[in-house]
Amino acid sequence: TMERTFLMIKPDGVQRGLIGEIVGRFERKGLKLVAAKFMQVDRELAAKHYAEHEGKPFYPPLIDFITSGPVFAMVWEGDNVIALTRALIGKTNGVDAAPGTIRSDYAVHTNLNLIHGSDSPESAELEISNYFAPNELVSYEQTI
Ligand code: CMP
Repeated sequence: TMERTFLMIKPDGVQRGLIGEIVGRFERKGLKLVAAKFMQVDRELAAKHYAEHEGKPFYPPLIDFITSGPVFAMVWEGDNVIALTRALIGKTNGVDAAPGTIRSDYAVHTNLNLIHGSDSPESAELEISNYFAPNELVSYEQTI
C-alpha cells in the first residue's frame, strides 16, 4: 500500500551533524521525499506531537528535549513506508536496536534517539498535518 510517513531528525541529530547521513539512508533505500523543513518546535507543537505520552514520567524531559534546538521535519512516501522507515530507524533505545539501524549505529540513549518516525497510518496523517500545510507537500514522479 502506498503510504506517507512523518520523520523528524531530533535536536541531537541536528547538533551532531547527522542530517545528511540520516536523510542519505532513506534516499539510498529509494524512498521518495515529498516535504522537508528545518524548524524550531515550540512547546505548543511539542505538546501536540507527544499528546499520547502526557502524564508519563518521561514526558517533561521529552518536551524539553524536542524544543531544545532545531529539528529537520520530513514527509516520505512509498509502498509500506511506515514499517520500512521504522525498520531502518530501529528500536527506541540505541542499545536494543538491531545492528545496521540508524539508532544502533549512532545512538546509545532512549531520549537522545536521533529521529522520530510515525508508527501507524493514523499517526502519520495527524503528524504530517501538525507540521506541514497541504501545499508544502510536493507532488512529482519518482522516475528512477
Ligand atoms: P519516539 O518513539 O520518537 O517518541 C516517544 C519518545 O519518548 C521516544 O521516541 C523516546 O525518545 C522517549 N522516551 C523516553 N523514555 C521512554 C520510555 N520509557 N518509553 C518510550 N519512549 C521513551
